[in-house]
Amino acid sequence: AEEFSEESDHAEHTDSSSEEEDNNDTAKEQLSKDVDDGNSTVQPVAVTPSQSSQPKTKPLPGEVQPSATPSSEPAIFIPVDRTPEIQEARLKLPILAEEQVIMEAIKENPVVVLCGETGSGKTTQVPQFLYEAGFGSDNDIIGVTEPRRVAAVTMSQRVALEMNLPQSVVSYQIRYEGNVSPETKIKFMTDGVLLKEIQKDFLLSKYKVIIIDEAHERSVYTDILIGLLSRIVPLRTKKGCPLKLVIMSATLRVEDFTENKRLFPVSPPVIKVEARQFPVTVHFNKRTPLDDYTGECYRKICKIHRMLPAGGILVFLTGQAEVHSLCRRLRKMFPYRGKNQTKAIEDDESEIATDRRKSKPRKNLTLPKINLDNYSALPVDEGDEDREAGGNDDDEEGQGSDSDLDLGDGGSEEDEKSDSSDPLYVLPLYSLLAPERQAKVFHPPPSGTRLCVVATNVAETSLTIPGIKYVVDCGKVKKRFYDKVTGVSSFRVEWTSQASADQRAGRAGRTEPGHCYRLYSSAVFSDFEKFSQPEITRRPVEDLVLQMKDLNIEKVVNFPFPTSPSADALIAAEELLISLGALQDPPKTGRLNYLQRAKLSSPITPLGKTMASFPVAPRYAKMLALGKQHDCLPYIITIVAAMTVRELYEELGRPAISDEEKEILKAKKARVLQMQRVWAGQGPAQKLGDLMVMLGAVGACEYSGLTPKFCERNGLRYKAMMEIRRLRGQLTSAVNSLCPDVRIYLDSKMPPPTESQVNYLRQIVMSGLGDHIARRIRPEELLDEKWRNAYKTPLLEDPVFIHPNSSLFKQLPDFVVYQEIFETTKMYMKGVSSIECEWIPVLLPQYCHFADPLEDPPPFYCAETGRVKCHRTSTFYRVGWQLPAVIVD
Ligand code: CDP
Ligand code: MG
Repeated sequence: AEEFSEESDHAEHTDSSSEEEDNNDTAKEQLSKDVDDGNSTVQPVAVTPSQSSQPKTKPLPGEVQPSATPSSEPAIFIPVDRTPEIQEARLKLPILAEEQVIMEAIKENPVVVLCGETGSGKTTQVPQFLYEAGFGSDNDIIGVTEPRRVAAVTMSQRVALEMNLPQSVVSYQIRYEGNVSPETKIKFMTDGVLLKEIQKDFLLSKYKVIIIDEAHERSVYTDILIGLLSRIVPLRTKKGCPLKLVIMSATLRVEDFTENKRLFPVSPPVIKVEARQFPVTVHFNKRTPLDDYTGECYRKICKIHRMLPAGGILVFLTGQAEVHSLCRRLRKMFPYRGKNQTKAIEDDESEIATDRRKSKPRKNLTLPKINLDNYSALPVDEGDEDREAGGNDDDEEGQGSDSDLDLGDGGSEEDEKSDSSDPLYVLPLYSLLAPERQAKVFHPPPSGTRLCVVATNVAETSLTIPGIKYVVDCGKVKKRFYDKVTGVSSFRVEWTSQASADQRAGRAGRTEPGHCYRLYSSAVFSDFEKFSQPEITRRPVEDLVLQMKDLNIEKVVNFPFPTSPSADALIAAEELLISLGALQDPPKTGRLNYLQRAKLSSPITPLGKTMASFPVAPRYAKMLALGKQHDCLPYIITIVAAMTVRELYEELGRPAISDEEKEILKAKKARVLQMQRVWAGQGPAQKLGDLMVMLGAVGACEYSGLTPKFCERNGLRYKAMMEIRRLRGQLTSAVNSLCPDVRIYLDSKMPPPTESQVNYLRQIVMSGLGDHIARRIRPEELLDEKWRNAYKTPLLEDPVFIHPNSSLFKQLPDFVVYQEIFETTKMYMKGVSSIECEWIPVLLPQYCHFADPLEDPPPFYCAETGRVKCHRTSTFYRVGWQLPAVIVD
């Protein structure tokens, strides 16, 4: 599967010399000692001689200490051949005036924090400064990390263009793709990619400088990178080949980085770049906002477009579906007949050829059950998450209202027939949009039209859109919430923070004075929280804990996080990883209590190492590790890919905007449900439930050649299916390099699994989702109506349900495992698959109590009877369920 093979920089990693690997291990050990030592013998950040000769006063934020002596390093200057137009545009950027100050600070200090208003030129210019100063000479690379894939791709393209260099020199690497070459000098990448590189080369020896961009977003990987780099930088100094770290952020509180002594014992200097920001008049709605903020946005935009002078409009909404629905309404009202506005579906994504080679013939199935000790071994690979939430900035914007351009509150619903005003050039912008389509917002709109970008909060700080004069802010943000104990997650649309709202307003004043229309009252605004919470404090952390253990950081509690996750979250992660077999089980002296767990420092197991090498969350990584049995891997890879990709199915429950659309949606829904029934299979295959539907959907797509049209017809998200295809390719090559004994080919046209394979798949899935078991409350047990057709899970008091869209909705199996619980009107299980309770004591003994663990033999599977045998009845301890098991004579 050539087209799915890893990028070239990857290859470089895998054949690193053994000497390098030794270095890596020593460095890792050093770090683990450093971090594990509760008494914190943290190495102070090294200071260069010229700096230590200065008086030891701490630089104030916004102030850089001038160097007493000129830098000892020879001044290098690598010329860049820019076009006059580019040069002219650059000179307008405020950061250009600060080049010398910035470069001095970087030369004098190992770590520098650079704050600047969005659009001041940090992302595009600082890498160029460093390049010109020789940081990319010899074999050294300038690394830049971004929390969002969009930014990594567009920024590398922009910088290449500005520098008049090919993309083989200014390149990018994101989870699935990249154009890094041996000539690469500036490499933009997602933070997850760099984290994976640290696992292979702890000292990051090919980099001379690392820029952590958008640090204010506080993405989990960015936070961890900063923690790791705070240790790597002094190690590199000690080795005599210093690594520079530049932390860049929008203007906001940076104390989490600068005043955190565990992170940087010597506070790094902060350079503040003042941007030329034009005044923005903020208009609040008088009335408290309604639920229908999309409608309110629509009315506001219509008014702006009809009544106000030329200038682009930027609208902030919360999610992709809203963005599309508003785009459609606006295009209908102010039609522009360019080709961009008639295309219904994204078709600009290049098709990836798939490997059509045959998968190897099936072996006879001899083993009656999967073997938990039969897993793949050896690390490879990388991964990152795209982000949609996040963003918190500080921006001292003028507030208040100015009556001239105050449009007043929403008013009546507009007539939805098209209007005679000038056309509106409407463009969507959100993180899952294809990069080429995202790039459109940077080009000037066709003449005679007004630009209107309908965006999620990607436009808050990562991307600066030229020509925006009006901002319409719904004031909301879509965030994912997790219950720390149960792991139940839900998306909730909430008020954003004051910092983000101000940042959004600031987008209107980039090129001339602007206006921001807030669809909420100033009273509501004053109740907003000041800043958004860092992501790391809001989500489960088992994937991070596993990655850190793989870096030999055993006591994760002692890691210098800029903001530490809660002890609860860390304990939950450690417990889950122990249950999955990824970390060593501590000696069994009854269940450990809370405090004992908190101090846990279980080292990683070989299985854990394998799991850490897959770019997916630990539960799925376990499935991949076990999946090689009975030729199940191609299926497990597909299931895991499908479970990892967000929103496989198109949202058909959305409110229709007309009767006509209502009918269309209804007909489509019926057709889609019909297809899903087909994909769910027949007979025993149905027991795999929603996962069988996923397999069927992927199979059907591949048979049809995976076209946007096929996806559209069958209610599948084309982008999601493309992503599954890519992820399948990536996981396939990861598995192939992990375990040389199984060679699997990516056979896009997968035959359905055999009957016995379906059973193995259910067992493998169950082994990964052992803490996600639910038992049906049978009618005879029913005490309370609210438990009708409900399931009981170990950790939740309340009933959970199989969603009506699930293929198991009617079957109601006695025992199921689920991917996650999602709360909407009720608590629903997502990704449900049925299991047999007899499997539990065998495959999940860690969750069971056995009558007498010392005397009784462990339970085993009896091939003749197809039953589990164990001495006495086992109990699934998390709920005290008695599991019917056959007693051995
Ligand atoms: O990183 P920061 O927000 O400080 O600014 P930047 O992303 O470096 O952007 C500097 C300028 O380059 C802005 O005025 C952008 O509009 C412009 N830019 C552009 O025209 N096209 C791009 N693809 C990226 C940036
Ligand atoms: Mg930037």
